[in-house]
Amino acid sequence: MKRDFISIFDLGKQEIYEIFELTKKLKESQKKGIQHKILKDKTLVMIFEKPSLRTRVTFETGMTQLGGHAIYLAPADINLGKRESVPDAAKNLSRWVNLIMARVYAHKTVKDLAKSAVIPVINGLCDIEHPCQIMCDLFTVIEKKDSLEQITIAYIGDGNNVCNSFIGASALLEFNLNIATPQGYEPNKDYLAKTKTANLTHDPKQAVADADIIYTDVWTSMGQEQSAEQKKEIFKPFQINNELLKSAQKDYLIMHCLPAHRGEEITDEVIDGPRSIVFDQAENRLHIQKGIMVWLLK
Ligand code: CP
Ligand code: NVA
Repeated sequence: MKRDFISIFDLGKQEIYEIFELTKKLKESQKKGIQHKILKDKTLVMIFEKPSLRTRVTFETGMTQLGGHAIYLAPADINLGKRESVPDAAKNLSRWVNLIMARVYAHKTVKDLAKSAVIPVINGLCDIEHPCQIMCDLFTVIEKKDSLEQITIAYIGDGNNVCNSFIGASALLEFNLNIATPQGYEPNKDYLAKTKTANLTHDPKQAVADADIIYTDVWTSMGQEQSAEQKKEIFKPFQINNELLKSAQKDYLIMHCLPAHRGEEITDEVIDGPRSIVFDQAENRLHIQKGIMVWLLK
């Protein structure tokens, strides 16, 4: 039966670690210049309703390195759901290609794609989740800290798609997750209800105090631009800056999924500082997605 990767909950704990192992091997091969054209002659279609640097380039490059081919479909190319229905698009693509990755507004769109496609569908970000990002982030944490055991991650900022996928991962992998958001910007309640290892607070100082990893994301996600100005004031105390980091007591590392809005959720001195691993993290988007694609097509 085909598998999809729409939500972090589509994987079990053991499967996540299988993908991490596979990713480690693929990364080593890439670094050593050993060819690994495991997906030779396979084609990935990438549907984008929103902009992207990392997701687009890493999926496309990953497919090239695996010996396959990737086709980029910009919003205007297929006008998903308008020029033709989502199920019809999925049924057409299933006849030609091997894999679909979609970055969409509504979670329902990527779920409907998966329902009608007979090939695997990967969620490249939607309003509810960004599961490839969280797989990348946790792979990166393991590289830096050896394991997720006894690790506390502090997520500071908007309770958004990235935060929801983190919460899902905490339910599956049982690392500690401290979440600090302003009142009214909390993450999805259903996701929170599924984890025992996430704590929600409105105090960023409390959240960073025992953190090994301090993580943030933009205050305004794509598609929510109308609330950006209003949020700037509300989110000010949640900026990752040297003042807030005085409350951090451990040997913490700084992460951000990028793109960063420097001067908003994070300052230049923090993102460019010695504890920042944001570009190692961004590099791993390439390796983890190769792992995910190979795993789904195995
Ligand atoms: N982090 C991330 O998904 O980046 P892009 O929006 O550039 O793809
Ligand atoms: N939360 C952000 C993540 C960007 C990679 C957004 O959805 O725009």
